[in-house]
Amino acid sequence: MKMEEVFKSYNDFVVPSYNKTPLIFVKGKGSFLWDVQGKKYLDFFPGWGAGNLGHCHPKVLSAVRDQIAKLIFVPNNYYNIPQAKLARELNFWAKNDFKAFFCNSGAEANEAGIKLSRKFGQGRFEIITFDNSFHGRTLAALSATGQAKYQQGFAPLVEGFKVVKFNDLAAVSSAITDKTVAVMLELVQGEGGINIAGKDFILGLRKLCDDKKLLLIIDEVQTGIGRTGKMFAWQNFAVVPDIFTLAKSLGGGLPIGVMMARQGFADLLTPGTHASTFGGGPVVCKAALAVLTAVQEEKLLANANKMGGYLMEKLAYLGKKYPFIKEARGLGLMCGLELNFDGKPIVEACMKLGLLLNCTHGSVLRLMPALGVSKKEIDKAIGILDKVLKEVKA
Ligand SMILES: Cc1ncc(COP(=O)(O)O)c(C=O)c1O
Repeated sequence: MKMEEVFKSYNDFVVPSYNKTPLIFVKGKGSFLWDVQGKKYLDFFPGWGAGNLGHCHPKVLSAVRDQIAKLIFVPNNYYNIPQAKLARELNFWAKNDFKAFFCNSGAEANEAGIKLSRKFGQGRFEIITFDNSFHGRTLAALSATGQAKYQQGFAPLVEGFKVVKFNDLAAVSSAITDKTVAVMLELVQGEGGINIAGKDFILGLRKLCDDKKLLLIIDEVQTGIGRTGKMFAWQNFAVVPDIFTLAKSLGGGLPIGVMMARQGFADLLTPGTHASTFGGGPVVCKAALAVLTAVQEEKLLANANKMGGYLMEKLAYLGKKYPFIKEARGLGLMCGLELNFDGKPIVEACMKLGLLLNCTHGSVLRLMPALGVSKKEIDKAIGILDKVLKEVKA
């Protein structure tokens, strides 16, 4: 297919719900992508947060090849060995007594958490969420999301969500009623502009949830699998959630979602009460096991911390150099650079020079390179970004 034919086919036959960049990628390896014309790009936002291992990681490739030749899929009324191993492995990393519900996406994992909370609530159903949060596009996940722009045109939303100010414990406290069952949040808001939860806020939230018998639900869809320098972001904060959700990078590029719930109430989802046909299939679970192995064997958490520190230093340097940069902030390798203008032209200019990054919340450049990123790759990315910002200044 010629490039024009590809664009035309999308135009004619694909629902236009995405803002699209006119690039057609055909190959990926580590931190790099190649387009159909052979141009190479340094990808600092791989897979919209699903690329913590970079592109086509060899461990994922060989795990998938091995499994796909043996058994592609069996449904959840039977057992499969990769799902059994993955549930055990996730629980090992969580160092607690969690049980897993497997599905296919972040929104679906959050839906499972919302449904389990309602079961737990026995009539209590309200969930407190936060402004600038993002929990997915299915109707309940969208209703939980504290950003009106994503909800426009989709009323009526699912009832039972109350949105309060992020990092404001008093606001949570005063939103609690006798119908409240849970509090749900991201510890670093990704789509909301890289906003990091305060440690005191999280500790206070955990105590408040314990005192009021509420579930603490942490959405780790974007922060999970080493992105913030720990396997799960909550491990930076010395709290343990009651429910946490995973998706994106866990599949190494394949679609997966997981709702992890503490034993004791996880079993409320009794046979027949919740399901997902493809959830926890053998191929994707084998891929996820390879992801976890890679994180451990390649010491990717240590690298995320070290390279996260290095990238933040470089971003802080840009912050000092250019007065139109409001702030550089991040945790591990989840980094943002807030500008005082729309960041889209910067993303486009970087792209022309072979660097892929993202802009979220209008003015926050989001950099989330593969966890195995090197100093050399960071230097290259910062060099391109600096060049583009210099032109803006001029
Ligand atoms: C924090 C968070 N939760 C949920 C989702 C939804 O995940 P998915 O697109 O896999 O449904 C996203 C996607 O960006 C996310 O960042």
